[in-house]
Amino acid sequence: MGHLQNRNIIIGVTGGIAAYKIAETIRLLRRAGASVRVIMSRGAQAFMTPLTLQSLSGHPVHTDLLDETAEMGMGHIELARWADAYLIAPATADTLARLAMGRADDLLTTTALATPAPLFVAPAMNQQMWASQATTANMKLLLDRGVHVIGPESGEQACGDIGAGRLSEPSDIYAAIDAFFPTGKLAGKKVIITAGPTLEPIDPVRFISNHSSGKMGFALAQAAAEAGADTVLICGPVTLETPAGVTRIDIRTAAEMLDACRLYSATPVDLFIGSAAVADYRPQTAAEQKIKKGGASITMELVRNPDIIGEMAQMNPRPAVVVGFAAETEDLVDHAQAKRLAKQLDVIVANDVSRVDIGFNSDANAVTWIDESGAETIAMTTKNNLAKIVIERCAGLLGSSADLEFSGREGAGS
Ligand code: C5P
Repeated sequence: MGHLQNRNIIIGVTGGIAAYKIAETIRLLRRAGASVRVIMSRGAQAFMTPLTLQSLSGHPVHTDLLDETAEMGMGHIELARWADAYLIAPATADTLARLAMGRADDLLTTTALATPAPLFVAPAMNQQMWASQATTANMKLLLDRGVHVIGPESGEQACGDIGAGRLSEPSDIYAAIDAFFPTGKLAGKKVIITAGPTLEPIDPVRFISNHSSGKMGFALAQAAAEAGADTVLICGPVTLETPAGVTRIDIRTAAEMLDACRLYSATPVDLFIGSAAVADYRPQTAAEQKIKKGGASITMELVRNPDIIGEMAQMNPRPAVVVGFAAETEDLVDHAQAKRLAKQLDVIVANDVSRVDIGFNSDANAVTWIDESGAETIAMTTKNNLAKIVIERCAGLLGSSADLEFSGREGAGS
């Protein structure tokens, strides 16, 4: 991947039992080519010695705001300016409160104010403390200010409680930082992604729709933009923030989604990803007035909606790579492979929606990547990580299809 090569990361460690996980986090970041400097709060030093983290980071650990020796090496303002990212992990409830208040009474919080780098916090605390109104309000303040939050995870806690508040695993903390830095692998590429449900009106107040949250498509758009792509996200009604650097087009019906896809394909598209849950049918006509209650039953004529991704895959010039998503409840691979061939897609990413822990509204997803060479399972991970993996793979396909240009290319499924 190499996103972290030559990146400068400060890790602020505060006083929590989970501080030990930072040793592994430092190792992962350094192995990826990042330089790491560590700041430890007084509380953190009760759980771990600065010497341990000095050996792992390869640099003296910073502990005091007013430390003459440290200031002679790299002063705190210089340290703050040096950073490409500042990660505070574990971030205790007290640290989150002090960050929310903008306190600057120790090196760790002063650096958070003094650095222009993005701030990441990985909270860790007792589940009751995490759920408290005060912590919730502090988190809201931090999120509103653009602080990136990693975790916390749910599970058994050091204190014996069970609930949310466990520090994320080092590999997840690493992945979140890594994902932040663009790979540049899609620089100069044009990507269109569809997301969310479509909404097909029955009358002015009623509609046919589905439960798609749009999370997968938004995560894909974020990953594409982070990889440097010119990214257009065409989405049905969802309540999600637009990822930075993404052009978002809001539509309601499948017909509007198709129109928008055509409009934004006026210049050749490198990668088209259909992650929208497009309604298969719509009412033949939407009543102009609200339909009144009458007899015991009512009949409505439904007509097929256009297959948006199918049309994109047959467009001339065709996007170099077309990727669909398929939600299946049985015979996952066979059904998805058949769909891939029928729609002439290069890849179909299939997920088993009969499982309640993944898919639709959840934040996690486990999928099977199906292309002309067969099926490969991608292990369960967060939708954000999965999006990164899918985008990374698509960038690989684009690299190998670059010499095909856009013309005369048949669907990979044909
Ligand atoms: O046919 P099915 O809905 O299972 O196919 C899923 C794939 O096709 C998804 O990528 C979805 O976004 C796309 N699709 C579409 N237009 C439709 C129906 C599905 O683009 N009308």
